[in-house]
Amino acid sequence: MSLAVCPGSFDPVTLGHVDIVRRARGIFDEVVLVVAHNPAKRYLFTVDERVELARAAVEGLDVRVDVVEGLLADYCRDVGATAIVKGLRGGADFDAEHPMALMNRHLAGVETMFVVGDGALAHIASSLVKDIAGHGGDVTDLVPPAVAQALRTALAHPGGTR
Ligand code: PNS
Repeated sequence: MSLAVCPGSFDPVTLGHVDIVRRARGIFDEVVLVVAHNPAKRYLFTVDERVELARAAVEGLDVRVDVVEGLLADYCRDVGATAIVKGLRGGADFDAEHPMALMNRHLAGVETMFVVGDGALAHIASSLVKDIAGHGGDVTDLVPPAVAQALRTALAHPGGTR
C-alpha cells in the first residue's frame, strides 16, 4: 500500500494544490493532504479553517486531510509514508523545495517526489490569491468556491484578530 503525504501551509488551498493532490492520487494508493502549522508564519486562516477548506476542496478525490503539529519528517515516519509529494510550478519552486527534500530525507529517510502541475495553473499562489482578494479582485477561477467565500468573509473584517 503506497502512501503519499502532500504537505503545505494551504493558506488557503488553491486549484493548483488540488491539481497536485489529484495527480498524486493517480499514482499512490493513499494520499494525505497535510496542513502544517508553523508558529513562525503569520497566516490569514487558522489551522482549523485551513483544514476545513482543504477538506471541502478535495471532496470526492478520496484524499484525507490531516494536520502536522511538529516536524513533517516525524509525521512521515509515524504514518509510514512512501513519499512526500510536492508540486512544481517552475524553477523557483524547485530551489525552495530542494533543501527541504534533502533535510526531510536526512531526518527520516523519507523521499520527496515532485509532480509538475497543470501549466494553466502555474501562476496561482496562495500569497497572490490573498493579495488579489484583499484588493477586491476576482479569485473565483483560482480557488475552490468555499475558499473564495472564506476570503470574502475574512477580508471583509480588516482590523479584526487576523
Ligand atoms: O506551503 P509551504 O509553506 O511552502 O509548505 C512548507 C511546509 C509547511 C511543507 C514546511 O514548512 C514544513 O514541512 N513545515 C513543518 C515543519 C517542518 O518539518 N520543518 C522542517 C522542514 S525541512
